[in-house]
Formats: sequence, structure tokens, C-alpha cells
Amino acid sequence: MIPLFKVAMSAEAPAAAAEVLGSGSIGQGAKVEAFERALAERIGNPRVATVNSGTSGLHLALRLASGHRPGGDAEVLTTPLTMEATNWAILANGLRIKWVDIDPATLNVDLDDLARKITPRTRAIVVVHFAGYPVDLARLDAVLDRAEALHGFRPQVIEDCAHAWGATFRGAPIGSHGNVSVFSFQAIKHLTAGDGGALALPTDELYRRATLLRWFGIERTADRLRNPPDVAEWGYKFHMNDINAAIGLANLDTAQRALERQRANAAYYDAELAGVPGLELTERAGDREHSFWVYPLKVDDRAGFMKRMDEAGIMVSNVHERNDLHSCVREYAADLPGLDRVAPRVVCVPVGWWVTDEQRAHIAATVRQGW
Ligand SMILES: Cc1ncc(COP(=O)(O)O)c(C=O)c1O
Repeated sequence: MIPLFKVAMSAEAPAAAAEVLGSGSIGQGAKVEAFERALAERIGNPRVATVNSGTSGLHLALRLASGHRPGGDAEVLTTPLTMEATNWAILANGLRIKWVDIDPATLNVDLDDLARKITPRTRAIVVVHFAGYPVDLARLDAVLDRAEALHGFRPQVIEDCAHAWGATFRGAPIGSHGNVSVFSFQAIKHLTAGDGGALALPTDELYRRATLLRWFGIERTADRLRNPPDVAEWGYKFHMNDINAAIGLANLDTAQRALERQRANAAYYDAELAGVPGLELTERAGDREHSFWVYPLKVDDRAGFMKRMDEAGIMVSNVHERNDLHSCVREYAADLPGLDRVAPRVVCVPVGWWVTDEQRAHIAATVRQGW
């Protein structure tokens, strides 16, 4: 079976982790600092704060945006087509979900629907660069300009970049566009630290709050014995440790090679699968570089397609279920015609660095045959 996901672990990672394990110091220390510097350089944003998962990063990002004033009618506009981690972080912060429809062309949020749904209750806006295809951040900025002119405030935008390591918008890496951006370095992402995540922050103030709140709100560098620091804002235990940071550091070059191979495999599918009847590719725009964490297709008969792929030894999946139908979010149910149209048609085929030339030819031929 050709797998849909595989861990991109470098040959150097075990020794790097072993060195930390034997060093007598495994908590947040020099490796975390070095990993943050390396991430900052690649993202093109000096304000990078690592955390122990992308999920923790999202909880923290929502907290930064909400000021932790739960209750009331504060809402977060968000996408229903994502991993549940994106949206449960909103609920954990005592905020209400307001679903935004999906643009079937991109599988990202529909920016027209988003613009319509901003109200004085909007505390934050969460977008996901689905599969690694960047949201049109320039149009999003223009939507926010209009909202600010209308309502007198600008909701905080949180970019969930869990799929989008290495993606760019208008030539600049995702994570450097003036929003709070959250990355995941979980097992099967382009860049894995075993588990882990990071926030890339737009201001020094948000960076400082993130670095405090990821560890109880305590200033780690303070002399806690002679001059115990006050905790002005309570925080979490979300910090990364040196074991994960060492693994992440050892995987940076591997992740870059994975990204390049995934893009090459995707370019091959783009050429081989364009125009096949009953099958649609997602949008490609010239102003952004996709990271192709997965390669989504839209097919008319998904059950039949999945069966044929399974018989040919190719693992496929829709990867994420729409979040809005779970019973725990029933109260936020909304009319989402774009999502209704596209969700039953989405299916992802293997595109990862492990897919060989022969395998991708077999995958493309099998996809074409079915239609
Ligand atoms: C879109 C999205 N957001 C958030 C997460 C959560 O990241 P983590 O597993 O690092 O907590 C994931 C994980 O797959 C994801 O796909």
C-alpha cells in the first residue's frame, strides 16, 4: 500500500535527541533557542515562540486574541474544513464559533462570506491554509480594512499554518504577513520535532506575552529565589523542551527536501490530471507557493474512487471531516452551501516525499482510469 503519510525523520535526529537525553538538561534551554532562531530565519519573522504542539499554539493564539474574557457573546469567525484542533481551541477560550463557508475552488474560507459575517462581536478570525495552499492574505487584509472603517476595530487574524510549512504568499513565507501564525511540528508534518509547534508573532508585545503565557506566565530568566517575579497574567504549560527542539533542528534540511519533492510530485499530478472528466483540481494562483502537505482532488463518486484506489494499493482519505456537524458544536449550526457542495467530493492522494516516480505514475494512471 502506498501510504498517505510518512514520518520525515533525518538520519541525524536519533543522535541529536540522544545527546540531549544524556546531557543532564532536557527542559527548555539552548536547543529550543537554537530551534527558534532557525525557524525565525526560515519564516522571515524574528518573533518565533515554540510550543509543545500546534494545538497548544492555537489555544495560546486564541488566548492572546481574546485576553481571556470568556463568556458573553464574543465570536470567532472560522473554517469548518480543518482538523478539530483549530476550532476546539476557540471553545476552550470561552469564545463562540461562527462558521464561515468554504470556497470550493481553494478549500479555504470564502472571503466574501467572511466579510459579510464580521460584526462588532467578532473577536478574532481563524483561517487555515488548507493542504498548504495560502489564503489570499491581501484580500483578507482589504476585508479587514473595510471592517475597521465600518466598526472601528480590527479583529485579530490567526493563521493556522499546520499544513503550510514552506508555503509563500507574494514571495514571502507564511508566518511573516502581520498576523498571529501557528505551525505544527507533529509526527507527519513536513517538519517534525516528534511533536511540537510554534507561533510567529506580528509584534514584540504579542511575542512577549506568548513567551510568558506558554510557561505559567512566569518570567523564566528571572532570579526566582532572590527576586521572585510576579505573575500578572496566568499561563499554561505549553513550552517546548530541548529533546523535541533537537529533533526539529536535525530535521530542518530533511523538511526542505521533503517540501521540494512534494512540490515536484504535485506538479506531475497537475500536468497528468488536468482536464480529466469527473475530476477537479484545486485552485493554483501565481502569487503563492503551495506546500502540498496533501494533494486534494474533488471527485464526483468518492466512494467508488476510494474503492478503486484501495484495490490498486493506494491509500487515500479526505483527511479532515467537516467540524460543524459534530454534536458538541450543534448550537453554532449555519447554512454553508459551498461546504455542502464540496465536502463530499474531497479526497487526498499520496504526494509525499516517499512517493517514487513509478508510484506517482501508477497513482496518476489509476486516477485517470477511473473516469
Ligand atoms: C489544520 C491543523 N491545525 C492544527 C493541528 C494540530 O497540530 P498538532 O497535532 O501539532 O497539535 C493539525 C494537526 O494535524 C492540523 O492539521
